[in-house]
Amino acid sequence: MPRADLDALCDLDRAHLIHPITEFRKHETKGPRVVVGGEGIHVELADGRRLIDGLSGLFNINVGHGRREIADAVAQQMHEFAYYPAFWDFSSESAIRLAERIVGLLPEDRRLRHLLFTTGGSDANEAAFRVVRMYQAARGRPERSKILSRRHAFHGITRAAGSATRIPAYHALASVDPAHVECAAPYCFRCEFGEEPSSCDMPCVADVEQTIEREGADTIAAMIVEPVMGTGGIILPPPGYFARLQEVCRRHEILLIFDEVITGFGRTGAWFGMEHWDARPDVMAFAKGITSGYLPLGGIAFTDHVYETIRDQSPRGLPFMFGLTYNNHPSCCAAALANLDIVEREGLVTNARVVGDHLRKRLSEGLASHPLVADVRGIGMMLAIECAEPGSKEPVGGKPMAFPAQVAARCYERDLIVRALWENVALAPPLCTTQAEADQIADIVLHAFQSTHPG
Ligand SMILES: Cc1ncc(COP(=O)(O)O)c(C=O)c1O
Repeated sequence: MPRADLDALCDLDRAHLIHPITEFRKHETKGPRVVVGGEGIHVELADGRRLIDGLSGLFNINVGHGRREIADAVAQQMHEFAYYPAFWDFSSESAIRLAERIVGLLPEDRRLRHLLFTTGGSDANEAAFRVVRMYQAARGRPERSKILSRRHAFHGITRAAGSATRIPAYHALASVDPAHVECAAPYCFRCEFGEEPSSCDMPCVADVEQTIEREGADTIAAMIVEPVMGTGGIILPPPGYFARLQEVCRRHEILLIFDEVITGFGRTGAWFGMEHWDARPDVMAFAKGITSGYLPLGGIAFTDHVYETIRDQSPRGLPFMFGLTYNNHPSCCAAALANLDIVEREGLVTNARVVGDHLRKRLSEGLASHPLVADVRGIGMMLAIECAEPGSKEPVGGKPMAFPAQVAARCYERDLIVRALWENVALAPPLCTTQAEADQIADIVLHAFQSTHPG
């Protein structure tokens, strides 16, 4: 694009376009980075720069950029018909086939066999909250309406999903709905109870039970959890955590929602994050990797038991009172089917595990003696490097979030996009990343750590 045209475009962006998680003032000064292309793990900017997408966009571009077959599948669907509502009993082949395909990928033991597609992760969680409340009301417990979630959780940004999100920065100018209640998270590196994983008896699970007792179990509909916490800082639970959490929820008749928006569709080296842990949800929310971002899509899957309770115990004649204009969108479902074809054909779930392990090993070994690296952790293609003052858990230089941001900026100078997440440098490359590309990513990250001095 000629320089003058690009400058004019950037001026229009500054004047009219709002960007998430961007300070208005800063954006007016800096302007946008205009993306013009993408191929494999790379994105290309209008100024000619070619960057490695070390975060898969927002943890979502699982199959990488530039997959023509997804575009072709969408075009074919759009040529037939682009969209018709799914309300009442209208349906489409792509939505039906996608629902069946996902049921086939899910662990069979839980019978998560009833699906509704939404447009993304936040509205998937909104749908999940509505379904669990409907379930409780249908079985004669309408007062069970609160939703539990954990500190550091990210579940989206719409009103209810944003209230289940428990990262304080998101609430600075927006209040939290009081129907959402917070409890402890299994953040072992920063254990709020001062325990060590080797000897702890999981006070974070006891905290959930205490919260339930304090609020009253008969006021709570469900608890929502990420199988691996993403935006909170790539936080993995210790072994046995989810089994204990599930036992507590079951004993108190509280449904368990797994938010697989990041972890679904291969990101962790398994089709779903739940496969790593000994627990199964009553409702699962998903989005992101289902289409690798080629078109917006999310959704929920719920069990036979939840479905049958709502079906059999709701007042006769009362329809399922949830509906988005774009539920079960045929063109988005066509994108998802083509995306899943690629994931299966290229063995990308296994690749995420193998290449993810390799990348984590290279980073752990390369940073083992770095004085400001306190923890390197992850699973599949979700990794975090946690930074702290030597021998402590304090932010480097006493300045929260500054050092990881400096490291991320240093990576960017060498054409690698990573994300500073609180005290972490987070990486989540596309699932199609090769071992050679992972080595390239590791080299850049290691160089960035070695050449960044807190200041
Ligand atoms: C775990 C989780 N849930 C929900 C969401 C919200 O998804 P969306 O941005 O598509 O609304 C996100 C987004 O990052 C997420 O990471």
